Amino acid sequence: MKNLLITGGAGFIGSNYVHHVLEAHPDYRAVVYDKLTYAGNLNNLADVSDHPAYRFVHGDITDRAGVERAIQEHDIDTIVNFAAETHVDRSILNPDAFIQTDVYGTYVLLEAARKFGLERYHQISTDEVYGHIPAGHSSLETDPVAPRSPYAASKTSGDLMVLAYRVTYNLPVTITRGSNNIGPYQYPEKVVPLFVTNALEGKRLPVYGDGRQMRDYQWVGDHCEAIDIVLHAGELGEIYNIGTGQEMENLRMVEILLDELGASRDLIQHVEDRPGHDRRYSLKIDKVRGLGWQPRHDPEAAIRKTVRWYVANEWWWQPIKSGEFREYYERMYGSRKVL
Ligand code: NAD
Ligand code: DAU
Repeated sequence: MKNLLITGGAGFIGSNYVHHVLEAHPDYRAVVYDKLTYAGNLNNLADVSDHPAYRFVHGDITDRAGVERAIQEHDIDTIVNFAAETHVDRSILNPDAFIQTDVYGTYVLLEAARKFGLERYHQISTDEVYGHIPAGHSSLETDPVAPRSPYAASKTSGDLMVLAYRVTYNLPVTITRGSNNIGPYQYPEKVVPLFVTNALEGKRLPVYGDGRQMRDYQWVGDHCEAIDIVLHAGELGEIYNIGTGQEMENLRMVEILLDELGASRDLIQHVEDRPGHDRRYSLKIDKVRGLGWQPRHDPEAAIRKTVRWYVANEWWWQPIKSGEFREYYERMYGSRKVL
């Protein structure tokens, strides 16, 4: 394992993973293959653009010829697939791109991995595949999948295809299912960067419904370390949950965020809920701990560190929020009922 094709590597987690690989494995090459959708951003990789072990290929994972060319030209032996449409709210408005990229795109990558006999195909998946988790239970990797949004269903379909390729073709695959990541370079449609930057701009924070939904907010760097450990020590054909193992209510997350900013709780505004909103996610993480990994940050530390990054890096998020994002925000929140 030496020449990694990191699909979706210009997005949030993918770009953090590229940074991790270049630091942790000086003898590896990190080839990013990314379509540069609204969520892909070369600013996320600006500080490694001259690194001798880094290459960027502008490409779409649904383009079979493009994927095959990248594998051949860069002598790829491993695919780590981060490429996806990732925002639940967008999937509710228009699921089409989710089916194209998260389902069909995964299939194209699996076919390429099979054709070229790659050493490994690793799929980045999500805790959303388990659906809403009732109090008192935490998801095990062996639990049934029960996705409830078009996004979650598209990611679940990708996972099922990956597992089928293991059974049918003996493809050397692994899957990780992560909880909510936060940290540098997260597109500000996701709740934590949206709320920090809104607060910095003096805008309200639109909390969906009663705000008592529960999420496991993990530091993106911890997630990247775990992915890398699974890539090197994980068992073929296996799934590994990755998170902190501690979930909290969204309202608590907002309180921590506002406290770190020294901003008033009056900024909180309860608005109409997301349709089909999953109330709770919760992961058991014993299996990945068994590979020698453990999270370095609990959710509160991750939230506070994330807030400080956005405060210090206005150069990164200001251009995003003043561009196409305004139209998106109006469409998503403009006519949302205030509760
Ligand atoms: P992101 O939206 O920030 O980035 C996605 C990247 O994929 C972008 O760079 C985009 O340009 C690229 N992309 C999209 N469609 C593509 C295509 N057809 N071909 C090539 N590139 C394409 O996403 P993220 O939050 O970094 O998530 C990365 C992966 O991790 C996704 O698979 C997501 O489902 C999974 N995940 C995310 C979280 C989270 O909290 N963000 C948690 C668990 C799992
Ligand atoms: O759990 C992992 C998943 O986490 C990933 O697979 C997804 O790619 C990622 O987007 C994220 O999904 P969520 O739907 O949990 O993330 P989001 O940031 O959109 O919302 C987090 C919580 O905050 C959720 O309960 C909805 C709520 N929320 C979100 C937004 C955008 C609000 O209350 N207000 C908002 O404006």
